[in-house]
Amino acid sequence: MPFDAVTPPVSEFDAPMAAAFVAATAIIEEPCFIGEGTRIWHFCHVMAGARIGRDCVLGKGVQISGAAVVGDRVKIQNNVSVYDGVILEDDVFLGPSCVLTNVRNPRAHRSQRHELNATRIGAGATVGANATIVCGVTIGAHAFIAAGAVVTRDVAAHALMVGVPARQVGWVGRAGVRLVEAGSELVCPVTKERYREVDGALVLVG
Ligand SMILES: CC(C)(COP(=O)(O)OP(=O)(O)OC[C@H]1O[C@@H](n2cnc3c(N)ncnc32)[C@H](O)[C@@H]1OP(=O)(O)O)[C@@H](O)C(=O)NCCC(=O)NCCS
Repeated sequence: MPFDAVTPPVSEFDAPMAAAFVAATAIIEEPCFIGEGTRIWHFCHVMAGARIGRDCVLGKGVQISGAAVVGDRVKIQNNVSVYDGVILEDDVFLGPSCVLTNVRNPRAHRSQRHELNATRIGAGATVGANATIVCGVTIGAHAFIAAGAVVTRDVAAHALMVGVPARQVGWVGRAGVRLVEAGSELVCPVTKERYREVDGALVLVG
């Protein structure tokens, strides 16, 4: 599915939701789109307009706002809110109680519904438990945000980010494991995939 935070045509909302599993305690507002094979567990709240791809898992107490976009095979652990302006590409993992934001300078006394700062989390990326993503950033594909980190800037694809504020301490491969240096290359100890750093970016070479 495309990842633009635009309202999809009404016809897309007409797709059958029957193949998704929704726990009895979840609240699903209509219209929304929930892909086939997606499982939505207890006390979730999917708001009108939300788009959730296929084969996703939403753990207990997850909220998806109406202008949020969730790709395919996304896994969201317990107690995470995906606000308007957040785009989760395919295969994103959000750890339990991580925090996404959508207003950079929030104040209670004025409406800021038109000041949303978009956040995009790239395909295959992981956000660890209790991490916070300050809005307006793009997290590259397959990046890994460590538990408890606070991301304040864009993150390169495959970067391993740790701490407050989050700093890059290494690289991870597609398996989510820190890559090990082997001469001029970086190797995944799990998959043996080989990468090379080119102009600050990671390139898969074999
Ligand atoms: C970052 C992470 C991937 C570990 O990577 P790793 O390469 O195996 O790192 P290690 O455990 O060998 O630790 C390396 C160093 O980083 C530190 N470190 C590890 N995780 C850290 C974190 N989240 N924040 C700050 N420092 C961390 C370790 O203390 C260690 O420091 P030291 O060298 O001074 O002793 C992992 O700790 C993490 O945060 N995973 C996310 C878990 C999660 O949220 N799961 C959600 C689903 S339940």
